[in-house]
Amino acid sequence: MIFRAVCRIIALLLRLFFYHASAMPAPIVPYYRSSSRDFTLLHGDMFELLPQFSFRFDMVFADPPYFLSNGGISCQAGKIVSVNKGDWDKGRSPEQIDAFNRQWIALCREKLKDDGTIWVSGTYHNIFSVANALTALGFKILNVVTWVKTNPPPNISCRYFTYSTEFVIWARKHPKRPHRFNYELMKHINGGKQMTDVWRLPAIAPWEKSCGKHPTQKPLALLTRIILASTDSNAWVLDPFAGSSTTGVAANLVGRRFLGIEREREFVEMSRRRRQEIDNLAVFGSLRSRIKDIGLAEAQSPGLFAGEGDAAAELPF
Ligand SMILES: C[S@@+](CC[C@H](N)C(=O)[O-])C[C@H]1O[C@@H](n2cnc3c(N)ncnc32)[C@H](O)[C@@H]1O
Repeated sequence: MIFRAVCRIIALLLRLFFYHASAMPAPIVPYYRSSSRDFTLLHGDMFELLPQFSFRFDMVFADPPYFLSNGGISCQAGKIVSVNKGDWDKGRSPEQIDAFNRQWIALCREKLKDDGTIWVSGTYHNIFSVANALTALGFKILNVVTWVKTNPPPNISCRYFTYSTEFVIWARKHPKRPHRFNYELMKHINGGKQMTDVWRLPAIAPWEKSCGKHPTQKPLALLTRIILASTDSNAWVLDPFAGSSTTGVAANLVGRRFLGIEREREFVEMSRRRRQEIDNLAVFGSLRSRIKDIGLAEAQSPGLFAGEGDAAAELPF
């Protein structure tokens, strides 16, 4: 009698154990981590991965789908090309775009330190929706930077002005919690004058495509300025839509650490190659020398990209 009761309890406990074990997500295993542990890549869906771990980042940069792949055409390097970037960028209804932006921004907010900031890039297709989501979720918008491309592709329809700008919204997590802004550094980079919210920087250049092509790859100069403006050395930067990991490469070029999440295998592979490329000190030096802000920043304060920050903080996987 007692034996049977004990067996029943053991069976029940085993069933409970296996039920919970099967309901638990598998532990997170990075797709790639640099040997210096300053660059980690997760391969998967950010909506599934972000809720699975606890960690607070100093800054988030996100270049989410703009939802503009609707069968249009554009001109690139003198050739007519389709503007279809991939399934992840296919058009959705305004309501779907709003719901999408609200959902991913809420997940990222939980991963930001209380004094952290988020940068989100976009065009008119998504940027108003992003601004509304940020405000609704309690962020305070600090600036809307206009990135003026100094070499935009021509408008082949000749029926309206050439598209030559993108926007990057910068917001802090809490309306009342002070954020990091390297004001003096930005002023120095801008020749001693306050830097404005209009940044004239070239569009992506061929030297940035040495490891393959991502259809919406951002220039390293843009990401470097964003990171230098709003973080200290050793800071942790998250990019939930990493693509080819321009954010991670820029972060490492200036001594910051990076976690990127990307769903497409082709692009995590490209990201890995881009990071491994800068393990070669000659390439590391050559990329840095092509980004004007880095030279200017180092001239102002040598050693700016080393030391400080919370070097001990490590990702939980
Ligand atoms: C606009 S691109 C980012 C490009 C990146 N800034 C760069 O410089 O290479 C957006 C990326 O997000 C990825 N993506 C879309 N939905 C995703 C999701 N739910 N989770 C993770 N990645 C996603 C796409 O595959 C695409 O590579």
